[in-house]
Amino acid sequence: MSGASADLVAALAALRAEAEALVGAATERDVLQRLRTEYLGRKAGRVTAILHDLTSLDLEARKVVGQAANKAKAAIEALLDAADAALAARTLSAAADLTMPSRHAFRGALHPVTLVVDEICGIFRDLGFTRVTGPEAETEQYNFTKLNFPPGHPALDLHDTMYLGPGTLLRTHTSPVQVRTLEAYQPPVRVTIPGLCYRRDAWDASHAPVFSQIEGLAVDEGVSFVDLKAAIGYFARRFFAPGVKVRFRPSFFPFTEPSAEVDVECQICHGVGCPVCKGTGWSEIMGAGMVDPAVLEACGVDAERYTGYAFGMGPGRIAMQRYGLSDIRMLYDADVRLHAQFVEGR
Ligand code: DAH
Repeated sequence: MSGASADLVAALAALRAEAEALVGAATERDVLQRLRTEYLGRKAGRVTAILHDLTSLDLEARKVVGQAANKAKAAIEALLDAADAALAARTLSAAADLTMPSRHAFRGALHPVTLVVDEICGIFRDLGFTRVTGPEAETEQYNFTKLNFPPGHPALDLHDTMYLGPGTLLRTHTSPVQVRTLEAYQPPVRVTIPGLCYRRDAWDASHAPVFSQIEGLAVDEGVSFVDLKAAIGYFARRFFAPGVKVRFRPSFFPFTEPSAEVDVECQICHGVGCPVCKGTGWSEIMGAGMVDPAVLEACGVDAERYTGYAFGMGPGRIAMQRYGLSDIRMLYDADVRLHAQFVEGR
């Protein structure tokens, strides 16, 4: 090794030792950054400078010094990286107070009626019901005629129905989708049909001209009223409470025979009587019954072979019961403070 190269190798060793000591003593990351520039900087770094000077050496010396310089450079770089990582970790853990409450996170919410619709359809899904939808703009045929409404039935009256034109209207209930389903699929059929309905009703605490319904339809061989009662009872126990009281009152609908209205014990006063249940202690949640054979036949289903039950419930009323709302208009105000209360679903 020539004298010049020996000097340079010794100088590199000294630089490395010096850098090592300074890096070890550094307590701030910007000190490390300055040391990085001082020793390894591309233009004026002290180790880099030796590498730049290699051209003045002969081939043999260039090789020896070059290797030593690269080694020193790698060693200093590794020291700097390790020290920097250690300081970065320390700064972070000093700044992070893990006992502090987290910053407020915004959570999206669903409309209470949406929550109720999803939950109801979910319960019936466990009973084999598939969720389907149908059109809101309907014909008189589907909304009334095929559902066995006699001509001149009060529901056809202009006061109840919003007509779009002659023979076309905004559906007044989801029952027309029963017909559409039975026309499209042969039994066995089990569907839930959520959707909006329209009636020329007043806006008041318990009426709205637009409201949601969930229609249910089950048609198969051997379906009886017992199956209807069992399905509704199962639904009410799961949706409201295991011991909830349910009652069936005889009623009339053109498309079911026999027909019933179904009440559950008022969830607000628990049967005592309150303004929401109008003092009765009961809350009507749906109409139901055995699908009239005339409806099955109108849909091309063999009514000798198949029977079925149907129901139509009001998720708006049910949401009011569940969440203790006394005015249906609250469901239409789009007040996010109402929705935000039901993020957790209850
Ligand atoms: N469509 C009826 C209404 O809007 C509700 C209804 C009653 C639906 C009995 C049914 C049913 O499927 O069987 O008032």
